[in-house]
Amino acid sequence: MNILNYSLQRRTAMKTDKLPVWLNNAVFYEIYPQSFKDSNGDGIGDLKGIIQKLDYIKTLGFNAVWLNPCFDSPFTDAGYDVRDYKKIAPRYGTNEDMKQLIDEVHKRDMHIILDLVPGHTSAEHEWFRQSMKPERNEFTDRYIWTNSIWESTEGIPCIRGISDRDGSAGVNFFSTQPALNYGYADRTRDYMQAPNDKAPMAARAAIKDVMSFWLDMGCDGFRVDMAGSLVKNDPDGSENIKLWQDLRQFLDEKYPHCAMISEWGEPEKSIAGGFHMDFLLHFGPMCYTSLFRSEKPFFSKSGGDISVFRNEYQKFYDSADGRGLICIPSSNHDMDRIARYRDTDDLKVCFAFLLSMCGAPFVYYGDEIGMNYVEGLTSVEGGFGRTGSRTPMQWDKTLNAGFSACQKTLIPLDPSPDRPDVLSSLSDKDSLLNTVSELIALRQAHSALQNFGGFEFIYAEKNKYPLIYRRYDDNEEIFAVINPLGKAAECSLEICINGDVLFKTGGEINTEAGKISVPPCSAFLIKTK
Ligand code: GLC
Ligand code: CA
Repeated sequence: MNILNYSLQRRTAMKTDKLPVWLNNAVFYEIYPQSFKDSNGDGIGDLKGIIQKLDYIKTLGFNAVWLNPCFDSPFTDAGYDVRDYKKIAPRYGTNEDMKQLIDEVHKRDMHIILDLVPGHTSAEHEWFRQSMKPERNEFTDRYIWTNSIWESTEGIPCIRGISDRDGSAGVNFFSTQPALNYGYADRTRDYMQAPNDKAPMAARAAIKDVMSFWLDMGCDGFRVDMAGSLVKNDPDGSENIKLWQDLRQFLDEKYPHCAMISEWGEPEKSIAGGFHMDFLLHFGPMCYTSLFRSEKPFFSKSGGDISVFRNEYQKFYDSADGRGLICIPSSNHDMDRIARYRDTDDLKVCFAFLLSMCGAPFVYYGDEIGMNYVEGLTSVEGGFGRTGSRTPMQWDKTLNAGFSACQKTLIPLDPSPDRPDVLSSLSDKDSLLNTVSELIALRQAHSALQNFGGFEFIYAEKNKYPLIYRRYDDNEEIFAVINPLGKAAECSLEICINGDVLFKTGGEINTEAGKISVPPCSAFLIKTK
């Protein structure tokens, strides 16, 4: 059977002219500030703690950091409820500490992006306090309000009875997070404004101002929270795309080096909107979920269907047409850790995939040592089920795994006696950590494996194993052969993928006579001659 039914034609190289050059080989490490490293013994991670650990991140091969929100906040949603966009939360440090963190990152030839939450603020933000007043003022229409307390917002939840203003305020996520007013695409009620009306444009200008503030301090870009939902009632995304195109233009003029990644999960929209990168996520299209998080994910010993990923990813990849990167995170602060239900051998196979795909890789802190999802925790600061993925980083075998000298930490540690830690992993040559850093080093040594390198599915058939894809550029060609299944797998191919095995986990690959056979739970990267 001819399995080669994907076109082998070479794609045009990525159109990198409009992209910050450093994105070409950026490998990101996501840091959840409250849980990474506590430098002053109050049980909460902080910026100085992050600075102490930059060498660790750098040594593993990461050259970029995404920091979750670290701004002043009442922490009803772990900081995604910003009270002051221009002030570092005192528990994390000061604005000077942030400046120092940025400088220390740059000293190490790394980059740092911050988390921008443009869609909503905390209900304690001064703008919202002003907008709650019954008297008209500059902030009256900064948020979405209906015209009467008895009228609810269409399409999004609302809060009411919270002030003397006669109206209900729309909220984006929790009821503590009122939605800023960027207007409505389809306007079906009186209170809905157009995206280019005065107040929505003022909200836009305010966000540009916030971006300028941190870019002027030296940060290298933003991960944008809920990026596709600023303009409401916008089913095809066209008004959100226009809004982001406007922001992109502003950045291109004033901060052309600024890198932008969206929490949107629909690259055909976000990249059209001018984002450089978008995530595949655990909500929206099944693409990402089918790999790691569905009931029968592809990455499991019992097997799943890779064709779901293939079809959607190919569509996204084609629509991005070289103008942006599709990023596949190992996990993040909103989803179960990748180690949940997986052992170290499984995780090595997952990382062989994550770190050999195109798009910029994003590794969530702790995933590199196989930190587990901690079951059954009581919610902390709006985490609910997500709290188990937000536990403190495990550095060593001392008190609190070296995270904090405080007896009680904000989020409890994984109580498991065999929890992994950095120190032990570093000295164990078979550790996941060492595999992760080996894979990053390979990626950095081979241009074909990097973020803009070509990508092509070679074998990705429904319920069949292994998955095979090709990474290439003008200099080289590398095949990835990935078999998460708990059984050996074999397929026949009309092309020859003999060459140097750059990476292997799980045993040996056999590529004789046009057949490829691989052992259970294995992965290989092969550079053809
Ligand atoms: C995003 C964040 C999540 C937060 C939500 C509301 O999905 O990743 O943590 O709760 O937005 O801001
Ligand atoms: Ca602290």
